[in-house]
Amino acid sequence: MCGIIGYIGEENAKSILINGLKKLEYRGYDSAGISVVNNKSLITLRKKGRISELEKCEDINDLEGNRGIAHTRWATHGAPNELNAHPHVDCSGKISVVHNGIIENHSALKKVLEQEGHKIKSDTDSEIIVHLIEKFYSGSLEDAMAKTVKCLTGAFGIAAIHSDEDNIVIAKKGSPLVIGISNKGMFVASDVAAILDYTKKVIYLNDNELAVIMKDHYVVSDINGEQVDKIVDEITWSVQEIEKGGFDHFMLKEIYDQPKALENCLRGRVKDGKIKLSIDFPPNDIERIVIVACGTSWHAALVGKYLLENITNIPVEVDYASEFRYRNPLVNERDVVIVISQSGETADSLAAIKEAKKKGAKTIGIVNVVGSTITREVDSGIYIHAGPEIGVASTKAFTCQIVALALLGLYLKQERGLSVDQKIIEALYELPEKSKKILESSKEIEMIAKEFVNSKNFLFLGRGINFPTALEGALKLKEISYIHAEGYPAAEMKHGPIALIDEEMPVFFVATDSENFKKIVGNMEEVKTRGGKIITLTDQKDDTVESLSEHVIYVPKTIEILSPILNTIPTQLFAYHVSNLMGLDVDKPRNLAKSVTVE
Ligand code: M6R
Repeated sequence: MCGIIGYIGEENAKSILINGLKKLEYRGYDSAGISVVNNKSLITLRKKGRISELEKCEDINDLEGNRGIAHTRWATHGAPNELNAHPHVDCSGKISVVHNGIIENHSALKKVLEQEGHKIKSDTDSEIIVHLIEKFYSGSLEDAMAKTVKCLTGAFGIAAIHSDEDNIVIAKKGSPLVIGISNKGMFVASDVAAILDYTKKVIYLNDNELAVIMKDHYVVSDINGEQVDKIVDEITWSVQEIEKGGFDHFMLKEIYDQPKALENCLRGRVKDGKIKLSIDFPPNDIERIVIVACGTSWHAALVGKYLLENITNIPVEVDYASEFRYRNPLVNERDVVIVISQSGETADSLAAIKEAKKKGAKTIGIVNVVGSTITREVDSGIYIHAGPEIGVASTKAFTCQIVALALLGLYLKQERGLSVDQKIIEALYELPEKSKKILESSKEIEMIAKEFVNSKNFLFLGRGINFPTALEGALKLKEISYIHAEGYPAAEMKHGPIALIDEEMPVFFVATDSENFKKIVGNMEEVKTRGGKIITLTDQKDDTVESLSEHVIYVPKTIEILSPILNTIPTQLFAYHVSNLMGLDVDKPRNLAKSVTVE
């Protein structure tokens, strides 16, 4: 949600900032802006739309200087237009601020600031920050920032510059910020992707920390001005991993990354038939597991319920992170609360895990982004090692999250002294090869997709552990093609959704081998009788399925509890091709952002 980059050093700031913004565009893309200081004068440029619009401005050539900040926005308060774009500049024209997060008490602050004579021009919650800094400024941007953040309620990652100083001052609470260190200058960013071209050495800021960044050093302190020693981390992702690598879109690349990603997720996690994970508490104490997540990660959590209950016999509940945190959840020290998050920054998921910790539960994070806020909040963690996921629609993270859940289930069983079914381990290690086979059917899926680009609605149906696969298939299609799509348990169709079935309602069945296979074929009959068009995804050669379906997509067989991993891949390809054939922006669907760091 919103992207921030800042640079101070010997180089031309503008090109570094624009390049960084492009890497961050997946975090928000309704407007963008940049401020650079040259000879003690601040120049700011803002534009509605993508970074490319900002680049097209003639005035961009005036942005000379070695220090600056920039922002790409995902609107929360105020329409996506130039006026509301960041950076925001104070009345004196000397201070510039970019902000990621939400300032909850902005209305009250705005009233006071306006009474004091500040001219607030935008409709954003963010602009009040620059006016507060202006109000408190008396020669030190650092002091003014410290006073400002004490007035703010809500979440923020802030970067500020003052034309008379020679630094960038940043502050964080609830929204991510990293400092990048290189011998050509220092960086600040909301996401390491923005600075990977220049450095792999980073410092993650914690909540309520503030930093002053100069061209060759930095000082981090807490909210009370006490200096804090920070560890310098090394990023393991490569620049190539955040490039498209010859694919038309990040989403397609990331779908094709899956064989490797699954392999990486499994790497080193099984040795001599034993599962190797670092979980810090005795598995025998666990009475119940609760999984919290949002979006696609929530679908992985639903698969996790079936998977973990099947493997461990421990009862599992799944909750939307946003619901869990607000309903005084009944968890205690005998519960394990697992949070699943690709980005490790989702505000609702972070708040949910904090709530669980407060109530004494043990916490585990299943996260992709190394060093992200959630990984630093949980007691133990499993990195999924899927590699950077840039496409807004989550793909490889989902399949790897399920692998991580399977490994966790096997680990808990093993640590409880029970024997682990080696067949599951074997099946896990066969997944990368099998997923490669599925990718070979991309062309065929594209042909099927062609027929459905004019659809207005879609139903995805599955049963048991593949009900979440149906939910995920529907989410993928709706978020990137804007076709209304619903996922439903196939058996529930007759309790309502069957009323929707007619020639205009295509139905995508997920019908791989299970004890319910015959029942799901029965559900297909019900759809066919009412004129619905059927696409079936299956691992069974079945004459009835073939006769009932307009199209059949075959996937390799695996054991049922792992089948969502393979079954999801054709649904990702289907959504991708529909969206691409419709000429839509697959990687940056409207109204969405990659990581949702506001509540
Ligand atoms: O980074 P997270 O896994 O916590 O993100 C959760 C959701 O915001 C995310 O899965 C979202 O639903 C995606 N757009 C789905 O493709």
